[in-house]
Amino acid sequence: MIEKSFVMIKPDAVKRRLIGEVISRFEKRGLKIVAAKMLDISQDLAKEHYSEHKEKPFFNDLVEYITSSAVLAMVIEGDECISLIRKMVGATNPKEADLGTIRGDFALDTGRNIIHASDSVQSAKREIALFFDKSEICPYQMPDEHLIYEG
Ligand SMILES: Nc1ncnc2c1ncn2[C@@H]1O[C@H](COP(=O)(O)OP(=O)(O)OP(=O)(O)O)[C@@H](O)[C@H]1O
Ligand SMILES: [Mg+2]
Repeated sequence: MIEKSFVMIKPDAVKRRLIGEVISRFEKRGLKIVAAKMLDISQDLAKEHYSEHKEKPFFNDLVEYITSSAVLAMVIEGDECISLIRKMVGATNPKEADLGTIRGDFALDTGRNIIHASDSVQSAKREIALFFDKSEICPYQMPDEHLIYEG
C-alpha cells in the first residue's frame, strides 16, 4: 500500500548541515520526496504538531527546540513508508537507536534527535494537512519505479 509520511529535519540537523545526508538515505532506499519546504515553525504550529505531548514535562523544551531555527518539512511517499521511515529514523533516544539508523548514526540526545517522522497513518494525515496545502504536494513518476517495485 503506497503511503505518505510527514518527515521533518529538525533545527539541530539543519544547522549541522545534515540535510543532504538524511535525504540521501531516503532517496537511496527508493522513496519519493513529493513535497519539501524550509520554514520557521510558529509557537502555535509547534504546539499543535506536538499536541499529544502537551501534558509531558518536556513539552515546553520540545516547543522551544523545534521553533528555535529553520526546519525542513517534507512529505515522503512509498510502499508502507510510514513504518519503514520510523525504522530508518531509529529510537527516540539516540543512545538507544541502532547503528545504521539516522538517530543512531548522527545524534546523541533525545532533546536533539535531528528528525521527526509520522508514527501512524492517522498521524501522517494530520501532520501533512497541518504543514502542507494540497497544492504543495507534487506527484511524479520515477523512471526506475519498476526496478524498485515488483508489480
Ligand atoms: N523524555 C524526553 N525528554 C526530552 N525530550 C523528549 C522526551 N521524550 C520525547 N522527547 C522529545 O519529544 C519528541 C516527540 O516525542 P515522541 O515520543 O513523539 O518521539 P518520536 O515519535 O520518536 O519523535 P518525533 O515525534 O519527533 O518523531 C522527541 O523526538 C524528542 O525530541
Ligand atoms: Mg512522535
